[in-house]
Amino acid sequence: QRPSIILGIESSCDESAAAIYGESGLMAHALHSQVALHADYGGVVPELASRDHIRKLLPLIERVRAEAGNPELTGIAYTRGPGLMGALLVGASVAAGFGMSLDVPVLGVHHMEGHLLSPLLEDEPPAFPYVALLVSGGHTLLVAVEGLGRYRLLGRSVDDAVGEAFDKTAKILDLGYPGGPALAALATSGDPAAHDFPRPMLARPGLDFSFSGLKTAVMLAVKNGERSPQADADIAASFQQAVVDTLVAKCARAIEATGMQRLVVAGGVGANQALRAALIERGARDGFSVSFPRQAFCTDNAAMIALTGYLRRSEFRRGIAGAEAVARWPL
Ligand code: KG4
Ligand code: ZN
Repeated sequence: QRPSIILGIESSCDESAAAIYGESGLMAHALHSQVALHADYGGVVPELASRDHIRKLLPLIERVRAEAGNPELTGIAYTRGPGLMGALLVGASVAAGFGMSLDVPVLGVHHMEGHLLSPLLEDEPPAFPYVALLVSGGHTLLVAVEGLGRYRLLGRSVDDAVGEAFDKTAKILDLGYPGGPALAALATSGDPAAHDFPRPMLARPGLDFSFSGLKTAVMLAVKNGERSPQADADIAASFQQAVVDTLVAKCARAIEATGMQRLVVAGGVGANQALRAALIERGARDGFSVSFPRQAFCTDNAAMIALTGYLRRSEFRRGIAGAEAVARWPL
């Protein structure tokens, strides 16, 4: 049997990406972000996203194949869902077409599973089991990862995702889209204690999150106060502090509830420096380790899809190359 070499394809939202994963690990990865394409609209425009995936996926795939030394692929893994239907269908169709032309089997994988496993892309990967905090523009999840395919949902946001809260707050402060990184940058020059914003759902037991009330509190603070660069920075810092406090407290609670000793953080908000520092500090205090995939693997990427396909390589089946996609897909 030939060693497995898996091509991964990601197109669930606004990043087109391709990667190749084999026995020696990640062999190549490439990505095109559509952020600039959607910036003028203040959010992802699904139709534009699909069209851009069509333009970008094939060149990205050619690039990673060349970078990896044109290895003979043994399988193609693509993001089957969840995500934007039209965008997913582009990746699914490309995967099915490649599968047919190269005569290799195709497997549709779960985007969130990719995120949950993304820490395994690093040189010193965490061992199972671990608690994963998944914080992106679309998701806020706490998941107990007991092993491959053994995921237990511990908590989730009942309204806005954390990244969404960052982006909406940034919009209130006129920081553009997606405003999360700009808001985090502005927060560094503000006073995190200037406003006592709510720490949603912290007083109650449980591991769910809610961020829409926090956004409203920010809106009121902006409306009722004087606008100035310093005032905006204070609001940004106080908002970020409220989010960080909430996430850290729930992560610590999840660690305690599961008895696990490792926390991994994935998703775009995992890039937030204040969150990283606070989680590491809490981990040192409570006795759990904290690991983060590098920033490129925190956000959407195909390396995590190729990796997931590789770990599930026994599930590839010949002949099932239907270009299947699902917008909603529970983990
Ligand atoms: O995982 P991701 O790239 O895309 C998906 O949502 O799938 O996450 C993007 C989100 C955006 O909401 C963005 O504003 C947020 O992550 N984000 C940040 C930071 N960098 C990205 N939020 C806070 N601080 C950051 N440094
Ligand atoms: Zn994602």
